[in-house]
Amino acid sequence: HPPAAGRFILVTQQLQVGSYCCDQVIGRRLPQVLDSPMRFFEWNPMGRILSCFSRYQDEVDSLVPHHLNALLVFCLIAVCACVVTSVIFPIMLLPLVLLITLFYCVCVCVCVCVCVCVLWFQLTSNCQYMIQSLMEVEARFISVERLLEYITLDPAEDWPRCGAITFQDYQMRYSQNSPVVLNGLQLHVSGGEKLGIVGKTGSGKSSLAAALFRLVEPAAGRILIDGVDITSISLSDLRRKLSIIPQDPVLFTGTVRYNLDPFSVHSDEEVWAALEKTYMKDTVRLSVPAELTQDEGTVSAGQRQLMCLSRALLRNSKIILLDEASASVDAETDSLIQITIRDSFQHCTTLTIAHRIHTILQVDRVLVLDHGQVTASPVQCGSGSGLFRSLVQVHVQVQV
Ligand SMILES: Nc1ncnc2c1ncn2[C@@H]1O[C@H](COP(=O)(O)OP(=O)(O)OP(=O)(O)O)[C@@H](O)[C@H]1O
Ligand SMILES: [Mg+2]
Repeated sequence: HPPAAGRFILVTQQLQVGSYCCDQVIGRRLPQVLDSPMRFFEWNPMGRILSCFSRYQDEVDSLVPHHLNALLVFCLIAVCACVVTSVIFPIMLLPLVLLITLFYCVCVCVCVCVCVCVLWFQLTSNCQYMIQSLMEVEARFISVERLLEYITLDPAEDWPRCGAITFQDYQMRYSQNSPVVLNGLQLHVSGGEKLGIVGKTGSGKSSLAAALFRLVEPAAGRILIDGVDITSISLSDLRRKLSIIPQDPVLFTGTVRYNLDPFSVHSDEEVWAALEKTYMKDTVRLSVPAELTQDEGTVSAGQRQLMCLSRALLRNSKIILLDEASASVDAETDSLIQITIRDSFQHCTTLTIAHRIHTILQVDRVLVLDHGQVTASPVQCGSGSGLFRSLVQVHVQVQV
């Protein structure tokens, strides 16, 4: 039966459009919303996000295809009516007033006139519905626009190629009412450079790491990595490309392998090779239990940092941030960390938050932070500059 067949096609098409919209907007965009930075969730209450997704998505799923269908049907009818009218009586295509005037003025065959009139009135009513549908479609697309506002850009697969980091007048505060902890940071770190960061406790060294990983969003300014503003990409893309060795790493409950490669994307050989480069192969073989726990007693702070370095090696990150353990790490482990950084991360940009003087002797430049500000432009190691010399002198005095 033709009308039933037509309706079936329409309904099927409507369902297909609805399912496509759902896949495009919810299926692909929802994970990006879940990856949004903390500030997004602070500014947008959960209820608003849920209502946005449910209300707008309902409109996108059901109303947009429905009105789009109606628009298509009315357009089709209008086109048919125009074709028929233009074939039978082309002059009827002129505006309505002119047509009616002409219609009553010109004497035509009654039969043709009736036929044309019926078609014409149908056309005008169709036009009305067509415009109404057009307006509905336009109105519903606002929902699509609103949903698309939550979308972030995808960086290039090989980003960051060089690993250059630029802080442009960067300011950060942990919450809206708390004081600024990084205040107008201006800094450029070239790709592959080894930068040491020093400063008194509370000067903002770990906050700089938090800023780079977007644990906290900027209050002003921006951070560029190879020219890409890190706020323009998703959190998962950003954090996938950087590696951090935190001040006090926490291990997951599970095997060493699970801790190094939680998504099982590397072979056992690659995992052992990474452990070998960080001098952890024998330790893991001989003294680390098969099943790790978050109990800090089983693996020392230095060893946990070395495991983080193995993870960074496996991930092949271009940018490594090492927040040196401030708790005492034995001299041997400490020097192993330094040797690994020097040998295995030669081509990586390395930011080392240093608590020990011999660490900054290994880096290219030293940045001194004080109350969230750079006290002077970073100094070259061994340059004999006043700042570097005074750092060493302070250390020597403390040692004495
Ligand atoms: N989660 C947080 N919420 C609010 N304020 C914080 C938070 N973390 C740090 N701060 C504040 O930010 C400032 C800088 O702290 P940060 O941890 O960056 O110092 P740091 O230089 O790493 O010190 P340390 O050498 O002791 O590790 C401090 O005044 C601290 O009180
Ligand atoms: Mg710190």
